[in-house]
Amino acid sequence: MEIILAKRAGFCFGVKRATQMAFEAAEKGGETYSLGPIIHSPQVVNRLEEMGVTVLKSLDDLASGTIIIRSHGVTFEELEEAVRKQLEVVDATCPFVKKAQENVQSLSAAGYDVVVVGDADHPEVQGIVSFAKGKVYVVGSGDEAARLPKMKKVGIVAQTTQSFENLKLVVLECLLKGGEIRVFNTICDATSVRQQEAMTLAREVDCMIVIGGYNSANTKRLAEVCAEFQPRTHHIETAHEIDPAWFEGVNRVGVTAGASTPKWLIDEVIERVRDFDCTKTT
Ligand code: F3S
Repeated sequence: MEIILAKRAGFCFGVKRATQMAFEAAEKGGETYSLGPIIHSPQVVNRLEEMGVTVLKSLDDLASGTIIIRSHGVTFEELEEAVRKQLEVVDATCPFVKKAQENVQSLSAAGYDVVVVGDADHPEVQGIVSFAKGKVYVVGSGDEAARLPKMKKVGIVAQTTQSFENLKLVVLECLLKGGEIRVFNTICDATSVRQQEAMTLAREVDCMIVIGGYNSANTKRLAEVCAEFQPRTHHIETAHEIDPAWFEGVNRVGVTAGASTPKWLIDEVIERVRDFDCTKTT
């Protein structure tokens, strides 16, 4: 049985950087916390917890120690609170997310109403929005943008995982809203590149395995796009979930992983799939 691993399976640049920073902070010892899970991988979060990194929901009860900021960022107010409390801040916010936050801050300071294209419930978007000091709207689609009020000056940024198509639809609607318009394309292509590769691979194999946290939106989406082309697609978090029955009559297995899946989890899965290879003659 041939096992084909997608070229860009696993950690994206921002998650790799955040994870490294978190493990380095953990190794230093002392009271160390992260505000929310550092990345959407329960296995990585557990490892960090074993090294003494406690996940906090808020900074309310924290008086001292080191606080690690997750890859998709936190709100302006939370950062301010950490500075006010003189906590040691390890800011692992992905530079692409940081850029979107800075764009919102400068647009807002220059008197623009800000439109953020994205999912209002996502913590990354809540963080980006918090950097606006004037009017700010979150829209998920062109239809939602069509319902925005008239604006004299409008500045647009996108959640990093948005599709270019959706950003274009929102921009078109905003063009109808009024005078001046500024657009910052803050989309990161790590997600779309992974999806494209996974789709191609799913077409070429008899069974597809997608590895990543069940709480990871990009992994869930990866599994969905694979399932469109390969009905024998399985989303798993760890190698223990693999069922040997999945490989009956299978010659080629495709493996991919979400942007927050560490390499050691991918390696374990490949190892396990090899164990279940029913075409082996030994
Ligand atoms: Fe950053 Fe893009 Fe990853 S925004 S966290 S490199 S998906």
